[in-house]
Amino acid sequence: MRRIEEGRVRVDGRVVRDPSWRVELGRVHLELDGAPVVERRTHLVLALHKPAGHVTTRVDPGGRPTVYDLLPELGRFVFPVGRLDRDTRGLLILTDDHRLGQRLTDPVHHVPKTYHAHVAGVPADDALEVLRRGITLPDDGTRTRPAQVRSLGVSRDGGAWLEIVLTEGRNRQVRRMCAAIGHDVRDLVRVAIGRLELGDLPEGEWRTLTADEVLRLA
Ligand code: URA
Repeated sequence: MRRIEEGRVRVDGRVVRDPSWRVELGRVHLELDGAPVVERRTHLVLALHKPAGHVTTRVDPGGRPTVYDLLPELGRFVFPVGRLDRDTRGLLILTDDHRLGQRLTDPVHHVPKTYHAHVAGVPADDALEVLRRGITLPDDGTRTRPAQVRSLGVSRDGGAWLEIVLTEGRNRQVRRMCAAIGHDVRDLVRVAIGRLELGDLPEGEWRTLTADEVLRLA
């Protein structure tokens, strides 16, 4: 204890003489006599452009490829923040920061997730209005929260692209919402989480996020 009172301990570069000071190890840089005892451990936050066909689990009992097959050995365990279903492409965040993970998935925080969905047929605007207001999903009778929905245009195959912004994340929610108005999803891409966009990250590739980008997520 005397080492603290003698001024030999530094926390994040500042001498701390109060032995009752509590520090969260791993969140600070702790030095004794000028030598690091515990390094500040910054969290790892990755953005992955998940391709269709990969499942968002560590191991798949059916032997299907997982998102971990796309990552190198990182030396620590990162977990996916919210899932994308097997057939869905787009932005997936993986991190070892449980607080960030909780913040992004807790419905209380309403972090918006933006999807581009290619649907069969061209939905009428009153059908889109039903999705905007919230819809009772016929398969389990639950009601979705209000969502932002707009048409991005029709496609040559007679379908349409929709932009759907959700502030909740139920299992296969976009697919179930679109099916409920009679327009099955043919292709689904998550293009943004919060204000962080997928951008031009190539499919199957990943990169680490900067602190500024992590702030844009929440
Ligand atoms: N909605 C879906 O239908 N699938 C996802 O993966 C995410 C949202």
